[in-house]
Amino acid sequence: MCGIVAYIGDKRAVPILIYGLKKLEYRGYDSAGLAVINNQKLEVVKKKGKVGELAKSAELKGLKGNIGIAHTRWATHGEPSELNAHPHLGCNGDIAIVHNGIIENYQSLRSLLIGEGHKISSETDSEIVAHLIEKFYEGDLEKAVLQTLNLVEGAFGLAIIHEDKNEIIAARKGSPLIIGVGKDEMFVASDVSAILKYTKEIIYLNDNEIAKITKNKVSVKNILGEKINHKVEEVKWSAGQIEKNGFKHFMLKEIFEQPESVQNTLRGRLYDDKVKLSVKIQPNKVDRIIIVACGTSWHSALIGKFLIEKLVRIPVEVDYASEFRYRDPIVGKNNLVIVISQSGETADTLAALHEAKNKGANTIGIVNTVGSTIAREVDSGMFLHAGPEIGVASTKAFTCQITALLLLALYLKQERNEPLDKKLLKEMKKLPQRIEKVLEYSDDIRKIARKLSRCNDFLYLGRGINFPVALEGALKLKEISYIHAEGYPSAEMKHGPIALVDENLPSFFIAQKDKMYEKNLSNIEEVKARKGKIIVLGTEGDQKIAQLADYSILLPQMCEEISPIVNVVVMQLLAYHIADLKKINMDKPRNLAKSVTVE
Ligand code: G6P
Repeated sequence: MCGIVAYIGDKRAVPILIYGLKKLEYRGYDSAGLAVINNQKLEVVKKKGKVGELAKSAELKGLKGNIGIAHTRWATHGEPSELNAHPHLGCNGDIAIVHNGIIENYQSLRSLLIGEGHKISSETDSEIVAHLIEKFYEGDLEKAVLQTLNLVEGAFGLAIIHEDKNEIIAARKGSPLIIGVGKDEMFVASDVSAILKYTKEIIYLNDNEIAKITKNKVSVKNILGEKINHKVEEVKWSAGQIEKNGFKHFMLKEIFEQPESVQNTLRGRLYDDKVKLSVKIQPNKVDRIIIVACGTSWHSALIGKFLIEKLVRIPVEVDYASEFRYRDPIVGKNNLVIVISQSGETADTLAALHEAKNKGANTIGIVNTVGSTIAREVDSGMFLHAGPEIGVASTKAFTCQITALLLLALYLKQERNEPLDKKLLKEMKKLPQRIEKVLEYSDDIRKIARKLSRCNDFLYLGRGINFPVALEGALKLKEISYIHAEGYPSAEMKHGPIALVDENLPSFFIAQKDKMYEKNLSNIEEVKARKGKIIVLGTEGDQKIAQLADYSILLPQMCEEISPIVNVVVMQLLAYHIADLKKINMDKPRNLAKSVTVE
């Protein structure tokens, strides 16, 4: 996490840096800062809090320089404060660095530097990078950075400037970093959203690479100092896609984009009688599938397990990437490992991917961000084509991930010469309209939210394929409204959570007319008998359930396989409206970041 942006060209750097930081703020917002070379003098401004605090600072007014680096922070080492904010400088104040990642051996390097007389002023791991570069600097900044990189262990995306140099040095290992190529100007950023307004021509740096950037030249070397040729790639996202387009929040915009984003995931892949994918799998050789992911992507993995096991009958395991990577997992050549990541940069998911590859598994990525590290490192994959997701709470990426998993399950079935259920394919085609229909309930859901926004706890309950939807509903609510919520399999509730039920605890049941309907009804009665408040997501026309519930949303009957994609939209809207009524900026919930590039 943490966002980096840097500029070199003929324009004034400050407005470009502030614009970029605002676009990157989803990566962290504890503090922000920038350094600009102003009349050959390095000037630094840092503020605690969001980028807005930095943007309104009077100190920015005098900064005219056209080379600069900037950073928005998500604290790892050292509390959020002005002192710990980036950029960090060496002792002489002529070198400035911004860093995303973690320097793991910083304690020993810190002691070494202090022993040599360096005065380290912050509690961060990052500051030692500035001091090391200073230690090695003899007029060649790139060389000093290379020497530094050979000493530091851990992960970094770095941008560095020196007041005597008309250049930016950028380096990457384990933290994303891209270079934007403009006309007589260049940019560096953690991701394209920061610079899309200025250029779509991108160089994706790889791990262990360092770039020397002037306003009209980029030269890239590996960590050994050998020259690397990089091609410039064009990104397809438009600048308009990263604006709110009249919606109050990005999250709401992204919820409402889902009919289109799901359509984009299906496009060119779903036909009347077949599925076309370009993944490299030999389905008859796959005897076991493991899906690894984090957060919301992990919930879609759970749904993927249900879909693949039901449709293809290959056993599927789901693991948290952070657990998988450290437990010496049993993975073999006939195993397929699927990694799911919206950002394509989550550190744990990337490490899990490396683990799977080292153990000889074939790997597939289900990723949204084109050009991201995971997308480039998997053996093959599927892009979601959901467009940029800016709101920290994942919404459209989730529905697109499930759509992609459903396509993948069907593809595996088809490639094993098993017939596909044409009715299901037809249902999938109708997904965008089904989601549209849910969106029409937004105002009704807001009314329910008004009644429930003061509750302190929530239970979300579902069964089978909709149990992970309950988990996701609970996660959405807690991450953006700060209300404690738990997701549980409906029947499991009586083994614990039922002790919490009283008139103040709402239980949100997913109880549609499927094979578990009667069982769900009994679970609802159990809560009702204990005076618990009940919200039901049920099936159109089900008066019985509507009467039992305090609040109900009834959706048209649909097949089980597509139901999570449609149902979760109700959960997203409820969480959104509760957070909005509580006046929380759910696009940037406290303590969270969109892209978690640290362990
Ligand atoms: C963070 C985000 C979540 C996301 C998770 C995994 O925690 O706040 O919304 O689900 O990372 O991210 P990924 O990009 O790998 O899907």
